[in-house]
Amino acid sequence: MQTDLTIRQARAADVPQLEALERETYALEGYPTALFYQAIAQWPEFTTVATQTNRVLGYLLAAPGTNDELWIMSLLIDTRARGQGIGALLVRHLIDHINQSPNQFKHLKLSVSPTNLAAIALYKKMGFSKQSLIDDFLGPGEPRLIMRY
Ligand SMILES: CC(C)(COP(=O)(O)OP(=O)(O)OC[C@H]1O[C@@H](n2cnc3c(N)ncnc32)[C@H](O)[C@@H]1OP(=O)(O)O)[C@@H](O)C(=O)NCCC(=O)NCCS
Repeated sequence: MQTDLTIRQARAADVPQLEALERETYALEGYPTALFYQAIAQWPEFTTVATQTNRVLGYLLAAPGTNDELWIMSLLIDTRARGQGIGALLVRHLIDHINQSPNQFKHLKLSVSPTNLAAIALYKKMGFSKQSLIDDFLGPGEPRLIMRY
């Protein structure tokens, strides 16, 4: 674990680094840059970054769903910083946040590729359980496992 690691709300000034992280892992299939600016404005408490001396090592983006559900829309850690507990820290931070406002959100949900074993293991470790596997959830040929906390 990195000693001087900080989890905080993302700022507009972080967006170039968020965009670089996104492109590194997802090439052209990542979220568009404008979404990060929008998320920071619209859901500031659910757009968090893990930083070390101003370097963004990862981020988590969540957004309200229907009723009392909050959806994790993205969790991404810099390839060089994986395996050090940072993804777990970002998810823990979000869980703690919703536990502090239990009347607002009762469940966390997310969709994850059924082949993404690292992410599935992380979410299971954090207390999520598998809910369903939905064909074409993110478009033709893009099944996703729905998990819930
Ligand atoms: C999935 C991802 C977010 C994990 O982040 P991370 O910071 O490397 O994960 P952590 O170090 O916090 O690991 C926490 C737990 O997750 C599981 N885990 C993480 N990486 C794993 C791997 N490569 N294989 C198996 N389990 C893994 C383990 O249970 C681990 O606990 P342990 O270290 O006690 O064994 C990261 O690999 C990533 O950014 N991947 C690309 C984007 C992605 O797939 N995001 C999820 C989309 S839903």
